[in-house]
Amino acid sequence: MSTATRSISLDTDWRFGGEVPLPGIEDALDPDVLARLRSEATKDADWTAVTVPHTVTPLSWKLWNPESWEKVWVYRRHFAVPEDFRGQRIFVDFGAAMTTAVVSLNGTELGQHRGGYLPFSFEITDLVQANSENSDNVLTVVVDSRFNLNVPPNIPAPALSSSLDYLQPGGIHRSVRLRAVPATFISQITTTHHDALDPDRRRSTFGVAIDGLTSGASGTVRVDLRDGEQVLASADVSLDSAAGTGAVDVELGGLRDVQLWDVDDPRLYDVVVSLTLDGQPVHEERLRTGYREARFEPDGFYLNGTRRYLLGVNRHGYFPFTGFAMPDRVHRQDAQIIKRDLNCVMVRCSHYPQTESFLDACDELGLLVWEEPPGWQYVGDSAWQDLIAQDIEAMIARDRHRPSIIVWGARLNETPDRPDFYARTEALVKKLDPTRTTSGTMHGEYARTQVFQHDLFGYDDYHTTVDERGERRPLLLEPIDGRPYLLSEAISTRSSPTTLYRRADPADVQQHQALDYAYSHDEAMGDHRFAGLLAWVGFDYEANMGNHHRGVKTSGLGDVFRVLKPGAAIYRSQVDPARRVVIEPAFTWNPPEFGQANAFGGRAEGRLWSPGAEAMICSNCDRLEVYLGERHVASIAPDRERFPHLPYAPSFVDLTLAETDDPELRIDGYLDGKLVGTRRFSGDRSGDSLALTPDETEILADGVDAVRVVLAVVDRYGEARGSSRAVVDLEVSGPGELIGDNPFDLDDTGAVAAVWVRSVAGEPGRIIVRASTPEWGSTTAILTSRAN
Ligand code: GAL
Repeated sequence: MSTATRSISLDTDWRFGGEVPLPGIEDALDPDVLARLRSEATKDADWTAVTVPHTVTPLSWKLWNPESWEKVWVYRRHFAVPEDFRGQRIFVDFGAAMTTAVVSLNGTELGQHRGGYLPFSFEITDLVQANSENSDNVLTVVVDSRFNLNVPPNIPAPALSSSLDYLQPGGIHRSVRLRAVPATFISQITTTHHDALDPDRRRSTFGVAIDGLTSGASGTVRVDLRDGEQVLASADVSLDSAAGTGAVDVELGGLRDVQLWDVDDPRLYDVVVSLTLDGQPVHEERLRTGYREARFEPDGFYLNGTRRYLLGVNRHGYFPFTGFAMPDRVHRQDAQIIKRDLNCVMVRCSHYPQTESFLDACDELGLLVWEEPPGWQYVGDSAWQDLIAQDIEAMIARDRHRPSIIVWGARLNETPDRPDFYARTEALVKKLDPTRTTSGTMHGEYARTQVFQHDLFGYDDYHTTVDERGERRPLLLEPIDGRPYLLSEAISTRSSPTTLYRRADPADVQQHQALDYAYSHDEAMGDHRFAGLLAWVGFDYEANMGNHHRGVKTSGLGDVFRVLKPGAAIYRSQVDPARRVVIEPAFTWNPPEFGQANAFGGRAEGRLWSPGAEAMICSNCDRLEVYLGERHVASIAPDRERFPHLPYAPSFVDLTLAETDDPELRIDGYLDGKLVGTRRFSGDRSGDSLALTPDETEILADGVDAVRVVLAVVDRYGEARGSSRAVVDLEVSGPGELIGDNPFDLDDTGAVAAVWVRSVAGEPGRIIVRASTPEWGSTTAILTSRAN
């Protein structure tokens, strides 16, 4: 029989009891209330049936009101222990719950976990009823989602949640599982690789912790490194050395044939660790890893010995409608957009540890990661600081095997100098993982702080200048000589002439966003002291601080729905045309007679609308031929003079429309004289329609899985319009549930938006999504929900 860890999902069949009345003050939940909630006497039959990941309150994509979730909530999950778990040690594992969770089983409190972004577990072996498949066990989870908890990144009263530039809707927002292991089991594996670049000296140390080891036990721990079914290397260690500590180090050499993990070829290997006691195999655990060398030097970043510019973005891990509570597929999709559509090689998980599914995708796609503990411009008291230490330990324990992670944040985002605290966090990170670079992000006056104890200087650079046209644009501060330096954030509406970068904004605003990226990356690429630049921010995000539009911060390359904006054109075009030919205008083709006149404040009207005399087109072609109707407007080439360092500089063309022009835009792209691509944009709205485009057409019928369906008003060529007054009625039939506003008003989103469709547990079948508007009738998308 297999000795692998057994575990089952507890994601379905939760009962949600809603708000807990009078739960006590922050950081001191009323013990009587907790006792009442965990007692069996509290009825839950009429509580609402929910699945996790779950957020306690319904949300739109905008105008989030933190008061709707900043309360205390209660969940219940009844379960029976599967037969093959019997006689084993049993644990309940939570992926994360926002922000403090008090967990009880069958009336007994198991413990509390403080912190909303990392996993926690409780052993329930002695409390669980496992006698028969019918024994009912009751798990009660009280979730405190108030803001004034003394738990990072939160801030005690009287601070409001708007004092952080991100929102944290409460709930059990990641998966919950029941896990069975033998009495003596592998409880933790710490992975350390050495000398990755030298085939002869390359080796790994696996620190294996064993729980429940009795003194005098004899046995071995074996490690196999596998490529699929093929074992590349093995080593074993006798348990003698574990006496007293319950831990052994297994050294694995002979790794000559290992292929390196790289951003272009992210090779991954499986590690299988097995425990044998008295000649009997008892337990097996697995993880996935990769070999690479990542080094920051004063002249840039080196991956496997090759200097590589870190083109990247920051990412927040929450979504419209559900907050953090999206299934794995949806988190993974973000990594794909960042790597495949935006051509990034790096992402910063701002400003907290993100889901394992997102990081799994980063490992698989070759997307480098900066991961950091939760924090934002605030450091609390010593109890709060102890929780940061707890988070650092949990983050590194969870993720250190991942080749994608190259930076651990050891200093919280944009916090003032706190030498003692940061000496502590730095020492802790280095003790736990001496192999990785540490960093932290400085900003404003801390640009030249002398009290920076970490390896890599991360700077959030929002300096600006005024250009020749009198417009504000980013200007990077001189990097620090002699020290590794990364622009951990730069470019946002803070460094632009406008306060918002919305899809529906006029073409000059859209192009300004793209120009900001072009100028800043060009500058950073031209000076090897910059390891790279991670733009603020990958996707728009809900927040109630500073410049926002209806509670949405709009500095994203993509909107909250993860649909890329025209301003993202520069990122999109930085790819070898052998891989993908890109012709991407940095503006929406949306002449105002089609609805946008108001957006221009009367500056451009009627047929004379245009993206201007310097319309920006981003492409990896070497020549573009631009037409308006039949009229050949210009033959243009990348402006390498202005942007000498960008691999694919943008091209510019005068697209001022004349009275007589046919407002149909065509761009032909050429490489070495050969036509390689054409984009067409219609000026005639009579061919417009509503398109519904799912990212994938198959999901799992587990009641948790969901897929994004993009709704967009498109022209006859399928190109998105930038504005529309359409209000869309949505209908989902079959075993699916709509996650999204309905009806959906596209006016505020620039004619493009998305909803998600979730499966129904145990009900496979065909899901039909129908979208209708009075002017276009209805259009459908068909999904298949597959039995799992
Ligand atoms: C930075 C901060 C980000 C975000 C950004 C907005 O200072 O680190 O989280 O708030 O400003 O422009």
